[in-house]
Amino acid sequence: MNASNLDELKRQAAIKSVDFVRDGMVVGLGTGSTAKHVIIELGERVKQGLKIKGVPTSWETAVLAHKHDVELIETEDEWSIDVTIDGADQVDPQFNLIKGGGGALLKEKVVAAAARQLIIVVDHTKCVPRLGKTFPLPIEVVPFGWGSTARQIEELGYTVTLRKRDGHIYKTEAGHYILDMQIERIDNPAELDVQLNAVPGVVETGLFVGRTDVLIVGAPGGVEVKYAEPRRG
Ligand code: 5RP
Repeated sequence: MNASNLDELKRQAAIKSVDFVRDGMVVGLGTGSTAKHVIIELGERVKQGLKIKGVPTSWETAVLAHKHDVELIETEDEWSIDVTIDGADQVDPQFNLIKGGGGALLKEKVVAAAARQLIIVVDHTKCVPRLGKTFPLPIEVVPFGWGSTARQIEELGYTVTLRKRDGHIYKTEAGHYILDMQIERIDNPAELDVQLNAVPGVVETGLFVGRTDVLIVGAPGGVEVKYAEPRRG
């Protein structure tokens, strides 16, 4: 399946996700090519009279929302988010995720955690039996002593690569670096998340464990909507 076919599957799944958005809602807006389709569809529905406000997870998303007339909440202090809709790089059968391929994992995790409902939209190729192997795990770290942070992660038995773009170190919107961690298989995402977050210098990992409420998958046979067990607490 080529990239444009996959993009069409993402688009179809994104359109479906917007059916969950109701008048008056505050919507967390993800980042990436799938989230882009979500924002475009939200913009269409705004033109038809839907009234919502968005919380963007990146500048790229804020600019796109503005372009498509999706009003954004002004404050960055605290929100009451009804639903966050975002993409993912990998999804396992328990709906745990690897995110951060686009580098927005920190804001994405904050906005996902602040929402009453998290909807994840993917094409079918992102669904894997186990996280890891085909996609490296992004880890956001502070630039100060990043090499020592990387070494401590490697001492845990993993291999990391400092993310670069066009020959320069990639910097997140918060001014951090990203270490992409190669890992053959993630058997226990929750345990790994705790282990990595305990390394000084690690700001956040791209593991989203037990957060997804609804998974919407664009597949050649159509769009599938799958529900997770209700979140506790
Ligand atoms: C960005 C992300 C994206 O959701 C993830 O990379 C998927 O991207 P796309 O929708 O372009 O396939 O986590 O930080």
